[in-house]
Amino acid sequence: MTAVAFSMFFQFEGKTGTMNSVLKIENLHVRVGETPILNGVTLNIRQGEIHALMGPNGSGKSTLAYTLIGHPKYEITEGTIEIDGVGLNEMDPCERARLGLFLAFQYPVTIPGVKVADFLRHAVSNVRNPERKEGENLISMREFRTELRQIMGQLNMDEEFARRYLNEGFSGGEKKRMEILQMAMLKPRFAILDETDSGLDSDAVRVVSEGLSKLAGPEMAVLIITHHERLLEYNIPQHTHVMLAGKIVETGDASLAHELHANGYAEVRKRHPEEAAREQQTENAASAS
Ligand SMILES: Nc1ncnc2c1ncn2[C@@H]1O[C@H](COP(=O)(O)OP(=O)(O)OP(=O)(O)O)[C@@H](O)[C@H]1O
Ligand SMILES: [Mg+2]
Repeated sequence: MTAVAFSMFFQFEGKTGTMNSVLKIENLHVRVGETPILNGVTLNIRQGEIHALMGPNGSGKSTLAYTLIGHPKYEITEGTIEIDGVGLNEMDPCERARLGLFLAFQYPVTIPGVKVADFLRHAVSNVRNPERKEGENLISMREFRTELRQIMGQLNMDEEFARRYLNEGFSGGEKKRMEILQMAMLKPRFAILDETDSGLDSDAVRVVSEGLSKLAGPEMAVLIITHHERLLEYNIPQHTHVMLAGKIVETGDASLAHELHANGYAEVRKRHPEEAAREQQTENAASAS
């Protein structure tokens, strides 16, 4: 992806949306190539809420995240995604970003030759001025630097970071912090964090968790995909969802996340034998191929 395309990707309309917007996912079926991966996901997320999405490896969590932001590999065969009644199914990633969707990737991409500060300045300019033509009306350097410095300070990031090429040579933890920095600068309405805590040492998890808890508020909804509990300690979810074989099989409060961390998924599989059987079939098919 080019730098321009990438910064376009993060365009959205800023805070002009109505309060308490809702992201509605209804009976979503998604496949990659010929393989069905999501089998009827239904989920409503309101601005201001924190949701946790858990589930065993390969259950479809990242697939849901990629589908929401419109990754072309993930084909919707049935069901709808809407924000405040506006359908997203046919929208490209730029349009979705303009509506306030943001995904912090599980595996962030490297863009050699594009400096962090330049990337962020373009992305932030697009956010504040969606009508902007490329090359015009960049947010002023002074204004941008002041804000960047302040947010990097909050996230305990060395200012030297901003002068490096995007993600090039970044450690795993540095990449994840970079995702949070983007989010802090862009202030999306719906933020999806795909395992933003994985690979971080405990100090870094704390910094990211605290950073996120400062960002999350009435204007932002967060969907936290995680296998760990630390991120949720500072960002207590009102709703916890469990995905199994491409379906959300259970929803509860923060105590469900706690229980899953303590006991794993064996009980969930017992309670949902149909999905557990489908999970087994998929694994068998994958190991046979
Ligand atoms: N682009 C793709 N090409 C082929 N298969 C894919 C693709 N994306 C997802 N899958 C398959 O879909 C299933 C769900 O994968 P996904 O990455 O969504 O799981 P996950 O719940 O995020 O797992 P993890 O906890 O390991 O991150 C897996 O079997 C995976 O191999
Ligand atoms: Mg994943």
